[in-house]
Amino acid sequence: MALTLRPAVRTDAPDIIRMREEVGWDAARVYDWFDICSYQYGSPECPTSFDYVSYTDEAITIDLSRLQHPPDGRIFRLWVAETEKEVDGHAEPERTKVIVAAIGLSHIDLDEMDPDLACWERRRGLVRSLAVFNAFKGQGIGTWMMRRIEGEARHLGLKVITSLVPMEATASLALHKKIGYRVFKRAPRNWAEDVLHYEKVLD
Ligand SMILES: CC(C)(COP(=O)(O)OP(=O)(O)OC[C@H]1O[C@@H](n2cnc3c(N)ncnc32)[C@H](O)[C@@H]1OP(=O)(O)O)[C@@H](O)C(=O)NCCC(=O)NCCS
Repeated sequence: MALTLRPAVRTDAPDIIRMREEVGWDAARVYDWFDICSYQYGSPECPTSFDYVSYTDEAITIDLSRLQHPPDGRIFRLWVAETEKEVDGHAEPERTKVIVAAIGLSHIDLDEMDPDLACWERRRGLVRSLAVFNAFKGQGIGTWMMRRIEGEARHLGLKVITSLVPMEATASLALHKKIGYRVFKRAPRNWAEDVLHYEKVLD
């Protein structure tokens, strides 16, 4: 299947929300993420701090002026993967692009501010919210997404990529193991009791 990865845009939000609902994840923060994606530290419209409603539903204030940022000032990035699908048009079948998966990369651990997970000074970035639509699972897309995000992270200058996987996410645990991630911490998060913290040193 031919796949393309592109930065997500705000009009993709309904698809990303649908995907998260399918996975059983909270979808309430997706529009927040698009706001955060648009922050470019150092630009006039970027706040020096912002409130983020974390998974405990408590607003936490993140003071951006105390953190180091990537050269382009971006705090958070989201991508979607698309493939072409044939649909019935009026006259003959037409090809249209459909979103099959989404993935994020954060330069800050927005929920707990753990610098082992994301910290520009240490060139560590956190993969967030990888999800593949049910209809497209088991075809190598998750693997492709992880490999592509590693490429993007390398290109940005990161040295280590990290990822959080709850113990019950069997497919994701297998995926991380298969592509060379190693556990560096096992701890509760505010959204799950037992979460493996993975890292991979980028070549
Ligand atoms: C985890 C997820 C992203 C994997 O995506 P995918 O496109 O189905 O994964 P792939 O087809 O690339 O498979 C990669 C590996 O994962 C493992 N895997 C995939 N589906 C599996 C399943 N149902 N059970 C056990 N292992 C599975 C296999 O090891 C597989 O490698 P193999 O095919 O060489 O054996 C997808 O299942 C998903 O969206 N899950 C829900 C959300 C989630 O858990 N996201 C991860 C955040 S921690």
